[in-house]
Amino acid sequence: MILELLVSAAVALGAASPSPKIEEGIKNFTPSQEELAARQRFGENRLGIFIHWGVYSMLGRGEWVMDTERIPFSDYSMLPGGFYPSKFNAAEWVSAIKGTGAKYITITSRHHDGFSMFATKQSPYNIVDATPFGRDVLKELADECQKQGITHNFYYSLIDWGREDYPFGRDGNKLGKDPQKADFAHYLDFMCAQITELLTNYGPIGCIWFDGDWDRFPKPAPGEETKVDFDWGYERIYTLIHKLQPGCLVANNHHRINIPGEDVQLFERDVPGEDTAGYSRTSYISDSLPLETCQTMNKSWGFDIKDHKFKTGQEIIRTIIRTAGRNANLLLNIGPQPDGQIPATSLERFKEMGAWMQANGETIYATHPVMKPQPWGVTTAKDGKIWLHVMEYPEGGVITLPMKLKAKTATVYGGGQALKVKKTKDSFTVTLPESIDCSLDYIIEIR
Ligand code: GLC
Repeated sequence: MILELLVSAAVALGAASPSPKIEEGIKNFTPSQEELAARQRFGENRLGIFIHWGVYSMLGRGEWVMDTERIPFSDYSMLPGGFYPSKFNAAEWVSAIKGTGAKYITITSRHHDGFSMFATKQSPYNIVDATPFGRDVLKELADECQKQGITHNFYYSLIDWGREDYPFGRDGNKLGKDPQKADFAHYLDFMCAQITELLTNYGPIGCIWFDGDWDRFPKPAPGEETKVDFDWGYERIYTLIHKLQPGCLVANNHHRINIPGEDVQLFERDVPGEDTAGYSRTSYISDSLPLETCQTMNKSWGFDIKDHKFKTGQEIIRTIIRTAGRNANLLLNIGPQPDGQIPATSLERFKEMGAWMQANGETIYATHPVMKPQPWGVTTAKDGKIWLHVMEYPEGGVITLPMKLKAKTATVYGGGQALKVKKTKDSFTVTLPESIDCSLDYIIEIR
């Protein structure tokens, strides 16, 4: 039945035949020791910076502009000819990012618009061959990351609005694509060849971060109820990654339960367990894989010239805390300008984050929560210490941990003021002063 549906949908789309099966990842996949160690390290990082940068930044209306404004490839592809980010300086980017306390960078190597921001032999549509700038910015960044000791990861889009061989896409028609020219097998070869380049020419890479999986569900035709699924070729892609760099993690922003071969569970614009943005297709939270939430600093991923709705330092820092308190990393995004500069407001926020992480990072890195998030805030713990991150004054001024603890004391983090503690055989209660400043995060250390 499913097969029939797939075949008829493929025929209806006029596309070259996709492999008729629902993807399952690598069967019987057993992660290597190197991969397990990389997962562990990744989960300890707690903070990374996401970078959405491409030729779309020139239009200043986000990374989706080609699609939302229905710009056909023949027009959109004029952009690279004018792309000259004269102020791009990898060393400055990496040191500004490092200053936030972030342990890794994840940058768009190729977004849905199909433009490669790196030197690729697989298509001339790339930053070295198609722009007057002619520099491999990802190579400069990767080298700089190595030099400054921070992990370098690549975002990689599964979708391609430009290539003729990219078969489907909910939006293929809007962009004037000819479905007759679709050739998924050819496209998959192209992706694998690019991934090979990314994992061969840029030193050790921490993670390949896929995006766009949802595009495999073409919009059902009017009256048609079933969405059609097709195989992205994950088995081949994931096997290739694990073979080329066994310490490189695979992440996929598909908003579903992970499949074999993947190493990280991703959450978009929400901390694990919440779904305010409506992207989560599952409420399941993995207890064996590291977790990561990606979030924007303003509203947009790619540079948007009119978007000044930047989150405040307080909001960002609290997001770091709320994410860590849910056992997850925060991947916080910036959208650099077409001239290669990081927006000034982003740099200001970086400084605020850095100052806070410098003072309180111990309570964030490599920690794990000891209980579910509470109305007053969250917990983090490591090395025999528990930290209560109080962001709302608790009811009655007391916080009770429903667990037996060896710990004897509770003190205000950094200041050292001792707080009243009451222990029973299965609980630990701290009484807070009547008035505290928890407008950002009032941290109590239990040990
Ligand atoms: C969405 C968007 C994409 C963005 C990504 C980041 O999937 O399609 O533009 O890169 O989210 O998480």
